[in-house]
Amino acid sequence: NHQKDEKKVISNKPHAVCLPFPAQGHINPMIKLAKLLHSKGFHITFVNTEYNHRRLLKSRGPDSLNGVPGFRFETITDGLPPAAAEDTTQDLPSLCDSTTKNCLAPFLALLRKLNSLDGSPPVSCVVSDTAMWFAIKAAREVGVPIFCLRTTNASCFFAYRNFPALIQKEILPLKDSTFLTNGYLESTLDWIPSLKNVRLRDLPTYTRTNDSNEMLDFIMTQVLEASKADALIFNTFDELERDVLADLSRTCPPIYTIGPLHSIINQLPQNSLKSIGGSLWKEDLESLKWLNSRAPNSVVYVNFGSITVLTPEQLVEFAWGLADSKKDFLWTLRPDAVKGDCNVNLPFEFYEETKERGLIVTWCPQEQVLNHPSIGTFLTHCGWNSMMESLASGVPMICWPFFADQHINCRFACAEWGVGLEIDSNVNRVDVANAVTELIDGEKGKQLKSDALIWKNKAADATTTSNGSSYLNIDKLVAEMLSRH
Ligand code: UDX
Repeated sequence: NHQKDEKKVISNKPHAVCLPFPAQGHINPMIKLAKLLHSKGFHITFVNTEYNHRRLLKSRGPDSLNGVPGFRFETITDGLPPAAAEDTTQDLPSLCDSTTKNCLAPFLALLRKLNSLDGSPPVSCVVSDTAMWFAIKAAREVGVPIFCLRTTNASCFFAYRNFPALIQKEILPLKDSTFLTNGYLESTLDWIPSLKNVRLRDLPTYTRTNDSNEMLDFIMTQVLEASKADALIFNTFDELERDVLADLSRTCPPIYTIGPLHSIINQLPQNSLKSIGGSLWKEDLESLKWLNSRAPNSVVYVNFGSITVLTPEQLVEFAWGLADSKKDFLWTLRPDAVKGDCNVNLPFEFYEETKERGLIVTWCPQEQVLNHPSIGTFLTHCGWNSMMESLASGVPMICWPFFADQHINCRFACAEWGVGLEIDSNVNRVDVANAVTELIDGEKGKQLKSDALIWKNKAADATTTSNGSSYLNIDKLVAEMLSRH
């Protein structure tokens, strides 16, 4: 009888199937959302690509996958040919193309399999990344609601939604390549009040073309398809993007802002979930010990996320900029962070000069690093997860956006939120050294730090108090999901 009762409890549970886009900056927020739903009583199936599943097994060990009751992992193919090395970042345009073309059938088959599995409740909803919009079709086919997680911020999403209007107004595509250098890219979208400070050069570099291209098509389709979801979920908070959220809510399905997600997750009491993580690289815990030996607010943390690939020249400029600043630094350099394999080729003199005050690691526990009192500033590529983590920790940023949403994130950080200092995309060591010195010792650094602390408090208000906006939105989102169960 006991066994029968247990089976009944399991089969009555709501069951969310969570499908991230298969890249680090997308897996991280999705795994947090999945943990959150698990803590609210959901049975979770988390779907990775086979490639990433193997990487997670390697970086985190088998216990991190399928060690927690009611939180299961499944895989589907990404449709790409086998990679030469198992731990390299996959080519993004190929991944976008392949998931769009090849993943619907295996995902649908998985949903059907889950519905017929003994010991697993029937699927009650799909939670997918907006970049995996084929999942909307799959969810409709099996008759369950779909909730789409958008891993960029709301401002970027709204800017993307305006691309058809920009094309209609003949603002984009560029007439010809002279428009790249004639000052045209400095013009702002001042006819859209909530994006009034956004310049054409803050839009993704894919728009800097006089033709259409696959990545532009991909992001335009993605934001339009998102309208077909039952609801949209953003890793942001109301106070940060109030105007844009108001604009978006006029044309989108219901929007739930539940960020910063990592702050919410850190409050969960269940230690059992701590074993589950999504890092595709093995985290170097020595970096935290090293930070313990440094003075408060003294270290520049340098990291360009999971996709950025530097040229050997950029690498060397950053390195000498850090060395010339004479400040302490912690630098995360993935093995595939430089074109070719030049990251092992930093000049010997650089290592000699910085050995007392610099630490270079492959991958670190970034959230903990940013929360460490020794960190004074973050030299970042402006990936949205990194910016949320930095804002929530009250750490001001030196911004060097690389691609996609990162330019617009940088613009908001510098021009609206007062927490960032941009350096030129054509990076040189003098700018790097000056920015680091300014942020750690200068007046501008003090100002940015004080604004960053204000945002830290606002982020905490959104997530920790019982009437914080993100806190309340989570309950509303869960209620919406359960009402359809
Ligand atoms: C990219 C985009 O730029 C981002 O804006 C989009 O939403 C998702 O795809 P990525 O370039 O990887 O992501 O950057 P970011 O969004 O900052 O995500 C990187 C994640 O990896 C962060 O959560 C960060 O904490 C984590 N990380 C990074 C580590 O845990 N350790 C590291 O050493 C480096």
